Amino acid sequence: MIFEVFTLFPEVFEPYLQASILQRASQRNLATVRLHNIRDWTYDKHHITDDEPYGGGGGMVMKPEPVFAAVESVLGSPPSCPVILLTPQGRLFNQKLAYELAAPDKRQVNEARLALICGRYEGVDERIRLHLATDEISIGDFVLTGGELAALIIIDAVVRLIPGVLGDPDGAIDDSHASGLLEYPHYTRPAEFRGWGVPETLLSGDHARIARWRREQALLRTRQRRPDLLARAELSEQDRRFLDGLDEESTI
Ligand code: ADE
Repeated sequence: MIFEVFTLFPEVFEPYLQASILQRASQRNLATVRLHNIRDWTYDKHHITDDEPYGGGGGMVMKPEPVFAAVESVLGSPPSCPVILLTPQGRLFNQKLAYELAAPDKRQVNEARLALICGRYEGVDERIRLHLATDEISIGDFVLTGGELAALIIIDAVVRLIPGVLGDPDGAIDDSHASGLLEYPHYTRPAEFRGWGVPETLLSGDHARIARWRREQALLRTRQRRPDLLARAELSEQDRRFLDGLDEESTI
């Protein structure tokens, strides 16, 4: 999968992309992140990428010409892949959207290509949104100084879903949110740490019992922390019976 990132600050991406799983994914050609500095498509003496807003008011607005020139010279006109503008006004990013971006139209994931435009300043010229972006995504109801961190978050969440990226092929299946529920608690050695033990079921070796315990913990945890998710989750008859049998105060 190829990510074409358009930004005024390509250097902020490098350290994160060169670490850990993202670096491994890139070395194995499972994910490639190409960074394009929007400033390289300015043709004035001072390489200006922003200007004052028409109508006055504070702040600066990202000019349309360098952004259009950058995206069209890399992706053609019209662009050959989805062009996502990172903005707090976009649709909210979540795990479902990460899956959609990782496997667009059920195409082979290695063929997939995604362009990400990182806005800066107070905003971008509206014509970028209207005539260049094909989608707008926000990573949450807060305002960052630019779309770079949002782009990194999206790249990270999408890359780990590409088959072969995680060591364990099922690594992403149990993730919090993958099934619509928060994930169950994890424990590793030692079996006792500072007097705190590990739930007996996990030490039992009984795989069916462990699977049931994990499901119930996921249900309990989601009910306690994110009842909004529980209301939308796909639940089996057995899940419903478990939840119905709980009293109001049951917690993890
Ligand atoms: N740019 C600034 N804030 C943002 C947000 N919350 N999501 C995506 N891009 C942004």
